[in-house]
Amino acid sequence: MTDKPSKGLADVVAASTALSDIDGKAGRLFYRGYDIHDLAGKISFEECSYLLQRGSLPDVDALAGYAAELAEGRELGTLVTDNIAEIAASQTPMEALRTLISLDSAGDPDKDSNAAEANLRKAARLTAREPILVARYHAARTGGEAPDPDPELGIAGNFLMQITGERPEPRAAEIFDECLVLHADHTMNASTFAARVCAATLSDMHSAIVGALGTLKGPLHGGANEQVMRILEGIEPSEVEENVRRRLADGEKIMGFGHRVYKTEDPRATHLRRMSEELAETSGDDTYYAMSRRMEQVVFDEKGLNPNVDFYAASVYHYLGIPTDLFTPVFSVSRMAGWTAHVIEQHADNRLIRPDSEYVGARDRKWVPIERRVSA
Ligand code: ACO
Repeated sequence: MTDKPSKGLADVVAASTALSDIDGKAGRLFYRGYDIHDLAGKISFEECSYLLQRGSLPDVDALAGYAAELAEGRELGTLVTDNIAEIAASQTPMEALRTLISLDSAGDPDKDSNAAEANLRKAARLTAREPILVARYHAARTGGEAPDPDPELGIAGNFLMQITGERPEPRAAEIFDECLVLHADHTMNASTFAARVCAATLSDMHSAIVGALGTLKGPLHGGANEQVMRILEGIEPSEVEENVRRRLADGEKIMGFGHRVYKTEDPRATHLRRMSEELAETSGDDTYYAMSRRMEQVVFDEKGLNPNVDFYAASVYHYLGIPTDLFTPVFSVSRMAGWTAHVIEQHADNRLIRPDSEYVGARDRKWVPIERRVSA
């Protein structure tokens, strides 16, 4: 006799982690003991990845060493470069990333090892490559060339440059860097859980990341940021209130709202709202920020729901010039830091993840030969 399962594993503690922690009632998020409010806007994404993957904030020398490792790790293998044009022509961005990470594993010198040192090297390589893969995919489908990374710029600045073709304003790069820090890890979210389940079979880091990418793709998880933008782009500013009320009345979920763990505002949304406001002001066109604010008010009045990380990320990425269908890939650029850190953590203290299930199907059915069966 099994216990009744918690649907969607709500409130089930599925793993122990020293990476991140959420206080859902107070709306607080911590990376390795640091409050996200103290890190956002103060550390670079590189420092954040280092913190997650290696356990502590780097000093100047350690960060320089890690940055050198990342720069070296950007070089893509021929299996990827030879096939990227065809993949870009036939797969959507998240499908393509799944494929590309899998192809890219072929050239990884540590692909057959789950040892701690090998995992650290692979984590750095994957963190370095994910933004390059997104940029090269985008270049391939638009028939252009992604500019070479500029050693003066970090991951955030280089990504914006490679996607837009222009060196970003320093403030735009700073804002995007902060976005990457905010999305880097988030306890046992669906994609991280998928990565850990895969890693716990003692499969390799690349396989775990492929699973995580497929999980992030869904609109109830990372795919929500793209859907938020599609709604903003698809309606007139004057229609926001009527549109939201009608969709809620039809029982539709409004993308970018609600959260399994936060019972109050998602602390990441607080920062992203501020960034959206700033970028709207700088751009001289506050349409999407104003629409988002209105949408937030209506959803709160109707359902008492707060925006999650995906809601204001949409307008922020839009103002930064990122194409809408690359919003979820951008999430993966950041979450790569957390996924890889979770794989390292899982492998360091492993036990197969294999929960039980509640059987709800028919019982005691009698087998009959095929010629005597009657189709239902
Ligand atoms: N719009 C309208 N109603 C909602 C929303 C929403 N965005 N979110 C939750 N609700 C309602 C549900 O309809 C349900 O109402 P009911 O009890 O009357 O049936 C109630 O709130 C509970 O919702 P669940 O879906 O059961 O909550 P759960 O914890 O399973 O889901 C989730 C959390 C998936 C984030 C949900 O809030 C949702 O679908 N949001 C929209 C998608 C989204 O923004 N996803 C990104 C999440 S953040 C991330 O993954 C990075």
